[in-house]
Amino acid sequence: MQFTDILLHWYEENKRSLPWRGERDVYRVWVSEIILQQTRVVQGWDYYLRFVEAFPNVRSLAAADEATVLRLWQGLGYYSRARNMHAAAQQIMERHHGQFPKTYDEIRALKGIGDYTAAAICAFAYQQPYPAIDGNALRVICRIFGITENIMAESTKKQVKELCQKLIKDCNPAEFNQAMMDFGSLQCVPKNPDCRNCPLASECYAQKHNSVDLLPVSIKNIKIKKRYFHYFLLIQNDKILIEKRGKNDIWANLYQLPMLETDNDKLLDFKVLCKKKHQLTHQSLEAVFYEIGDEESLPKSELERRWISFKKIKEYAFPTLVVKFLEEEIETIE
Ligand code: ADE
Repeated sequence: MQFTDILLHWYEENKRSLPWRGERDVYRVWVSEIILQQTRVVQGWDYYLRFVEAFPNVRSLAAADEATVLRLWQGLGYYSRARNMHAAAQQIMERHHGQFPKTYDEIRALKGIGDYTAAAICAFAYQQPYPAIDGNALRVICRIFGITENIMAESTKKQVKELCQKLIKDCNPAEFNQAMMDFGSLQCVPKNPDCRNCPLASECYAQKHNSVDLLPVSIKNIKIKKRYFHYFLLIQNDKILIEKRGKNDIWANLYQLPMLETDNDKLLDFKVLCKKKHQLTHQSLEAVFYEIGDEESLPKSELERRWISFKKIKEYAFPTLVVKFLEEEIETIE
């Protein structure tokens, strides 16, 4: 089939210029792919540049303390990515004497690296023929080759992967994967793709069967959990009371205002400053921020609390929800 020829030709003419494009340094490829796991290119760009400047190699990342790594990640969300990268850098120091491993299986065994990221690293850094199957690749392949099963099913993912493994054999693996990513992001987009100007239209099952809007079939079965967070703003003499989150929940080890979680949206008996909603992949958060006069009135907590001066606030990583509140509430924070 003509598919790869047309795809690669399209890529030649339309490829995006991105800071990690053509990058062969495996450490940099890794950082970019972890950032791009759950972040759009535009948002990830600056974070990527700052990250590789602060930590130019595995050794420097492994030696950093977790708080510094999280601070650089602040605002990107999905903080387990940063914690896992930090841990993986240490695994590389211990297991591989600081040399980034070179085989798919060794790379896949590192913390935070799944099938997609391991394949992307192998193809981009080492030119090994592994297709990186993300949402873009699934969409493109299902539409063009007429795969109509639910892409949430492992069996469908396997089918797409096997097809791509055949296709990538005749190409430069890095080019194939990048072309799929860009084609999915720019041309074969999820909603209202411009099929009239698509070079693959004549090869496309979905186009032929008028089912571009119906493919890929994606039936999710996730429950969204509602949670109610109550935060307390306590300020004394240019200092603010903060607490460190625990290890086993969202935003692990980040900082926040002293907080109480309840199982319903009933307000507590304090002065309300504002309310905010925040949506995570599997959780819907409703937050209320209260003003509180003294530490004794605070609900008790097992978490470590400490007073810090406003000037030091930028040294701590907070969830975006809390940063937004602080920015609105306290003028001294730019
Ligand atoms: N999404 C995931 N990896 C990417 C990459 N290397 N370039 C562009 N988008 C991506």
